[in-house]
Amino acid sequence: MISVNKNYANLKDSYLFYKIAQKIKKYTEEHEGAYIYRLGIGDVSQPLSASVIRALHEAVNDQAEKKTFHGYMPECGAPFLREAIAAHYAKKGVNLKTEEVFVSSGASDELGDILDLFDKSSVALVTEPAYPAYVDANVMAGRKILHLPSSEENGFLPPPPSEKADLIYLCSPNNPTGAVYTKEGLRQWVDYANENKSVILFDAAYEAFIEDPSLPRSIFEIDGARTCAIEICSLSKTAGFTGTRLGYTIIPSELNREGMNLNAMWVRNRTTKTNGVSYILQKGGSAVFTEQGQKEVRELISVYKNNAKRLMRAFDEIGLPYFGGKNAPYVWVKCPQNLTSWGFFDYLLEKICVVGTPGSGFGQCGEGYFRFSSFASEEDTEAAAKKMVALLKK
Ligand code: MLT
Repeated sequence: MISVNKNYANLKDSYLFYKIAQKIKKYTEEHEGAYIYRLGIGDVSQPLSASVIRALHEAVNDQAEKKTFHGYMPECGAPFLREAIAAHYAKKGVNLKTEEVFVSSGASDELGDILDLFDKSSVALVTEPAYPAYVDANVMAGRKILHLPSSEENGFLPPPPSEKADLIYLCSPNNPTGAVYTKEGLRQWVDYANENKSVILFDAAYEAFIEDPSLPRSIFEIDGARTCAIEICSLSKTAGFTGTRLGYTIIPSELNREGMNLNAMWVRNRTTKTNGVSYILQKGGSAVFTEQGQKEVRELISVYKNNAKRLMRAFDEIGLPYFGGKNAPYVWVKCPQNLTSWGFFDYLLEKICVVGTPGSGFGQCGEGYFRFSSFASEEDTEAAAKKMVALLKK
């Protein structure tokens, strides 16, 4: 008889965003015609930009002609896209070789897949509150997890602990708190990882939301990161690719552990386990890194930034303490009236059809907090902000 992966029995009953979707489904079944203001999962509402759409159309046309048709793409990414991403990093002052850039089908897929590089015995460290997939992917693999809680006292940016860990998850700008590490804050983690021979998995999915020029947008802005870090990024939130799927991963050529080179290992992994991302998507993605594409990215992001400002104005009016929102698309709010995170979720859904994400879904230390996403449409954000003021202002 086959033996199944029993680690699945150690997972929570359902994944956070699935549980939210189920609650919304139940509510709308019971309240016919109810319109839900979705400020929960960070799913974008603005369409892909003009340059991306044009590049996608052109790529579809290429696939229709014998002369320009493409079959399999290189497993680690098309050279035109890998080069465009490396050139984009060079503008941030980070020099990368083209072979250090791997094109992926998105950050969440990659955050799970990359675990193939590490032995089951490695201890994962997750700074919490955290994107729940970091924990779940390691529970599925049967890895020991150190939960490092953060709080208002350390600005939701915990420094490295005294215990040793092997695989360190850092997300900056942070999902869900919106906190962003300074260069000095990240340097402490880089030093810790180099000293302990650990590897940092740096989730940079929200880097495009950083507006303070002193804050690092890549871990490779920190000296020493090339010998201890992998950066995982995505076009989902930057350029509206949540439903289109495209991301990239940076593995420096100097990243070695136990005599093995992690860049070479990932080439071996990708060439075995994937047949590359489609030509059409990679063409669309490469348009993001052109001058015009970057201008359009800034326009897209300004819509979400205005939404975040609108939400923060509402919380100011209500008198609810909040964090994030400035260099990140998420506003992290303290629940009112001593409500639990799920208590506040139910209250908002029942009373005004507004959906957010309960903080406790991001780890125990998120209890009593609540995350609002700025990725909804301007109209829905405006309406939700007004409804929350009317409901919660004393
Ligand atoms: C979130 O809401 O935390 C993200 O949208 C989830 C994701 O990117 O997969």
